[in-house]
Amino acid sequence: METTASVLGPSRPPVHVPGGIARAACLVLALVLAGCASRSDMSGVQPRAEGTGGAIRQQAFGTTPAGDPVTLYTLSNTGGMEVEVITYGAAIKAIRVPDREGRIANVALGFDDMAGYAGQTAYIGAVVGRYGNRIAQGRFTLDGQAYRLAQNNGPNALHGGLMGFDKRVWAASETTGPEGPGLTLTYVSLDGEEGYPGNLTAEVTYRLTDDNALTLEYRVTTDRPTVQNLTNHAYFNLKGEGSGDILDHELTLDAERFTPIDATLIPTGEIRSVAGTPLDFTEPRRIGDRIDADDEQMRFAGGYDHNVVLDRGLASGLTGGLRRAAFVREPSSGRTLEVLTTQPGMQVYSGNFLDGTAVGAGGRAYGRRSGFCLETQHYPDSPNQPSFPSTALRPDAPFTSTTVFRFGTDGQG
Ligand code: GLA
Repeated sequence: METTASVLGPSRPPVHVPGGIARAACLVLALVLAGCASRSDMSGVQPRAEGTGGAIRQQAFGTTPAGDPVTLYTLSNTGGMEVEVITYGAAIKAIRVPDREGRIANVALGFDDMAGYAGQTAYIGAVVGRYGNRIAQGRFTLDGQAYRLAQNNGPNALHGGLMGFDKRVWAASETTGPEGPGLTLTYVSLDGEEGYPGNLTAEVTYRLTDDNALTLEYRVTTDRPTVQNLTNHAYFNLKGEGSGDILDHELTLDAERFTPIDATLIPTGEIRSVAGTPLDFTEPRRIGDRIDADDEQMRFAGGYDHNVVLDRGLASGLTGGLRRAAFVREPSSGRTLEVLTTQPGMQVYSGNFLDGTAVGAGGRAYGRRSGFCLETQHYPDSPNQPSFPSTALRPDAPFTSTTVFRFGTDGQG
C-alpha cells in the first residue's frame, strides 16, 4: 500500500536548490505531470521535485460573532505558490498559483474578512463535519441506537448540522519538515454536539510542497462509536476567483460509477455506471457540455451535485493508497488541478446554489456556478446505506485519509 509518506518523500534527504532553478524545475515538472495526467490509464502518483524553501507566517484575522479570535496562516513555497488557511472552519481562504505565462491568481473562492465567513451559507473553503454531505431525514441508527440530527437541508441533515465544523474555531500548530511547511488544525467535538454521539477529535494537516501540491491529511478519533465523514469544501475557479463561471473547465474523473440521487439529493443506494450519462467524465469534457441536459439526475441537482465512486472504490476495498480522482484543465489560463485521494468517493459539485449574494475577496459576487468543488469523501448517507463503505468510527480504530490538490499548467500557449 502506498502511503502519504512515500508519495511526498519526507524520508528522502532534503535537496537545497536556488529559487530560480527550483522554479525552472517546477515548470518542467508541471509539464511532465500535465502530460502524464492526460493519460486515461494513470492511476498512480508520479515522482516530483523536492525542496525545503517553504515558509509559514501568521496574522490576526478578526473574531467570530461570539468574539473568539481567528488566525490566518499563509504557507508559501519556492514554486511561487501561496495558500492561506484560517482557523475558523479550518478553511482554505486562498490558493495563489501561476498560469502558463507565470501570472499568479487566487484560484480558490474566499472572503476578505471574518464577516464574509461568518455570514456565508455555502461552506466556502471550510472543512465540513462531523458528517460531510447528507444524512437522510437527519436520522441514523448505530449499534441499535437511534440518533436524530437537525434537518438543515430540506428534510435532510447536511454538513454536520446547524453549527458544524465549518463554524468552529480550530486550534492550530505549525509544523515544518523536508516536504514543506505544514499547519495542523484540531477541533474537539463534544459528545452530543449536533446530535452525534462520542467525544470526537478531528485533525487536519495542510502541507504545501515545492511542486505546488497542497496535501490534506485527516485523522479522526472518538471515545464512543459514532459516524464521521470529513471533507474540504474548497470551491475552485482556475481562471481566478470572481472570473465568471466554471463551465469551460475541462474535467476528467477517474470514476466509472456514481451514486444516483433522489429529488432531495439523497443516494438511492444504487451504484450506476456513468456510461451514456452526463456523469461520464472518463475522458476530458467541459463541465458545461451536458450540465443542463434533459436528464433526471441533472434536474434533481440543478447541475452536478453527485458522489462519484472512485475507480478503486468498492471493488478493491477502501484503504488502497493515494490514487488520482480528477484532473481539471482551464483552457484560457492553462492552469491545471489534479486531485489525488485515499477516499472511496468524491462529491462533484458545480456550485449550483451560489446565487451572487456572497461577495468574494476580490470584491466580485459569486454567481451561480462560479466555482466547482471536488469533495473527497465517503458516500453521502452512508450511515443509512448498509451496502456503502462504512462511516462508523470506533474508539479502537482511528480514521485517516489523505487528499492532494496538485496545481500545474498545461504548457500550451
Ligand atoms: C455540498 C452539497 C451541495 C450544497 C453544497 C453547499 O456540495 O452536496 O448540495 O449543499 O454542499 O452549498
